[in-house]
Amino acid sequence: EFKPLVFSGVQPTGNLHLGNYLGAIRKFVALQANNDCIYCVVDMHALTAQLVHEDMPGQIRSITAAFLAAGIDPEKHIVFNQSAVPQHAELAWIFNCVARIGWMNRMTQFKDKAGKDREQASLGLYAYPSLMAADILVYRATHVPVGDDQKQHLELTRDIAMKFNMDYMEHIRRAGYGIDITVGDEPVHAYFPMVEPLIDGPAPRVMSLRDGTKKMSKSDASDLSRINLLDDEENISKKIRKAKTDPDGLPSEIAGLAGRPEADNLVGIYAALADKSKADVLAAFGGQQFSVFKPALVDLAVHVLSPITGEMRRLMADPGHIDTVLRDGSARARARAEVTMKQVRDIIGF
Ligand code: ADP
Ligand code: NA
Repeated sequence: EFKPLVFSGVQPTGNLHLGNYLGAIRKFVALQANNDCIYCVVDMHALTAQLVHEDMPGQIRSITAAFLAAGIDPEKHIVFNQSAVPQHAELAWIFNCVARIGWMNRMTQFKDKAGKDREQASLGLYAYPSLMAADILVYRATHVPVGDDQKQHLELTRDIAMKFNMDYMEHIRRAGYGIDITVGDEPVHAYFPMVEPLIDGPAPRVMSLRDGTKKMSKSDASDLSRINLLDDEENISKKIRKAKTDPDGLPSEIAGLAGRPEADNLVGIYAALADKSKADVLAAFGGQQFSVFKPALVDLAVHVLSPITGEMRRLMADPGHIDTVLRDGSARARARAEVTMKQVRDIIGF
């Protein structure tokens, strides 16, 4: 079997928010205890929607600072930025040739991000999931902690791995690089593993505070829609007080959240921050009004986030230190990625 290896990435575009924290970064931290982990600031992905960025180095440092402030250990694990390891782009080209256009056409994130005028979207935005597959598989990673919005991209990663394994099966066998795995009940001689998404917890998709049907996102025009990791107590309090709700109070049972996306979202956020289930939260607050629940949520959010915010600010005041962490992490990532790429080139015949 493949040795368990965790990989995930976050784009250096705009403010990190509570969705990034609960959907991704908090899981990154927890997984360190029992796994070898590689965490990446995916700066090449940041070009897919927008070519010119005001302060790319600052954005990269800010995500790195969030990783470190949340508790990622860059010495035991690897923290680096994608563009410093060109093997990602090299494998992505090969995957562009493995992936089928029909597969890419099914990607809902592309449809959302491209908007109405799809002819004007970049080829990079279209190929984004192929680069994401390369990010993961260039380390032959097996587990990927992400938010629920990335589920479809991970299915595509498995499809790409499977097609590569099948198409090059004889070459993989001849070179002696493969291992025997089972996929479903089928035995497969594989070079790339079938990645497992790690998408769980009470808030796998944190929704906007202004519209319970949209995910909380860096790209939402309204700052009131999200809690940023750099927001102070006053901002957090304002945003939660103004968060959209319906006129009813909190139900005592999960079933009472059905058809109430805003209420469901706030209960999910509370549960995730408190490390409890939604049922536990409703057992405590069922029957109460939002005028009681919201202040409790503000206190909890401030309690969890303010130490991270403080540490992020402290780290960002010393850019030299962050750059050293990234340089060291990139060198270690490059060495590991090159082991895979030497074998992949050999399998292909380059
Ligand atoms: P964004 O979608 O805000 O641009 P990224 O694409 O950089 O952020 O996502 C970084 C990580 O955060 C991914 O693992 C993604 O699944 C997760 N994530 C982003 N938004 C949310 C959300 N609203 N709820 C849960 N997880 C999220
Ligand atoms: Na995303």
